[in-house]
Amino acid sequence: MTNTLLGGLTAEEFLSEYWQKKPLLIRQAVPGFTGVASKVELFELARDPDVESRYVTHHDNNWQVTHGPQKAADLKRKGQPWTVLIQGLNLFCPDGDALLHRFDFIPQARLDDLMVSYAVDGGGVGPHFDNYDVFLLQGIGQRRWQISNQEDRGLIEDAPLKILQDFRPVHDWVLESGDMLYLPPHWAHNGIAMGECTTYSIGFRSPTTQELAQQFLIYLQDTIQLDGIYADPDLERQNHSAEIGERMIDRVADSLSRITWSREDVRRFLGAYLTEPKAHIYFDSPDDPLEHEEFVAACRDQGYRLDARSLLLFSGGQFFINGEAVAVPDEDKEIIAALADHRHLENLSGLSEETIALLYDWYCCGFSSPSGSLMP
Ligand code: SIN
Ligand code: CO
Repeated sequence: MTNTLLGGLTAEEFLSEYWQKKPLLIRQAVPGFTGVASKVELFELARDPDVESRYVTHHDNNWQVTHGPQKAADLKRKGQPWTVLIQGLNLFCPDGDALLHRFDFIPQARLDDLMVSYAVDGGGVGPHFDNYDVFLLQGIGQRRWQISNQEDRGLIEDAPLKILQDFRPVHDWVLESGDMLYLPPHWAHNGIAMGECTTYSIGFRSPTTQELAQQFLIYLQDTIQLDGIYADPDLERQNHSAEIGERMIDRVADSLSRITWSREDVRRFLGAYLTEPKAHIYFDSPDDPLEHEEFVAACRDQGYRLDARSLLLFSGGQFFINGEAVAVPDEDKEIIAALADHRHLENLSGLSEETIALLYDWYCCGFSSPSGSLMP
């Protein structure tokens, strides 16, 4: 793949030279790009209680954050600079979903969501660093980006968001519509709107090791199977009846050392964990679902598409959708892998009855649809 998105670099070149290593400024990464939603649509989303949004305003170094739903009056405010950030734009806007999936030269398992910020002149979230990689794509207007690879990550105390105490930029660029800046984790950055502007952030998941371990242990508790019952035929009289004796500790330590897991457990855990919908995501079953035969006919004519909220991943021939492992017959695995990669199928030809029944079941759960898109 060579295209403007990576400034003429192939995905392989980008991955080996820049990904998680150094920033990259790409002028006209998406020529003619001015965003995927209008200002009116963005403000409507910001006012929606089901949409995650933040309103950030500042005066000198006094920062304030208001979580959504936002008030109409705040979105008309004059005087002080402000910005509103809307998370998960890909879930509410088909073009946002398509934009996010232009970045699938990075595995979908690493992709998080598309965030957009709208800012008035001078608006921004202040100098900070993130723990994840981000592509910052300029929509309407201009934004000045200053970045730094400083080691000093000291934050202003008691601020409602992460603001670096002492930001020392080493690069300073003005991004125009369609320009894009890639930043690896921990690069400090500050984006200041120069007039009204929008910035689209393609964000990635970077779970902490602690989070992975905690979630894995939750997975493991449902899967481990250890036999045996606590027994102590060699029990001896203790001086203190209330004491938990060393021999009891030995026995239980020995039992617990039998907890083991395999690479397949790690695979199954990751499949379920990475496809688990976020807490605020719900799937709505169709109000008046098509009968099975009508569904098959509709897919023949229109194809089959995953809903933007659905996460379908696979590994080692196993498939996972929205937090659950699903069995796919061997002969259909290639086609269902293509569905996972491209998120749609032109038709259902070549699939077994069993797999068509599975796709129908996903449709009935609201995970997918036989037509263009299910987005609200
Ligand atoms: C913004 O769009 O204002 C903030 C994006 C970021 O800094 O990650
Ligand atoms: Co940031």
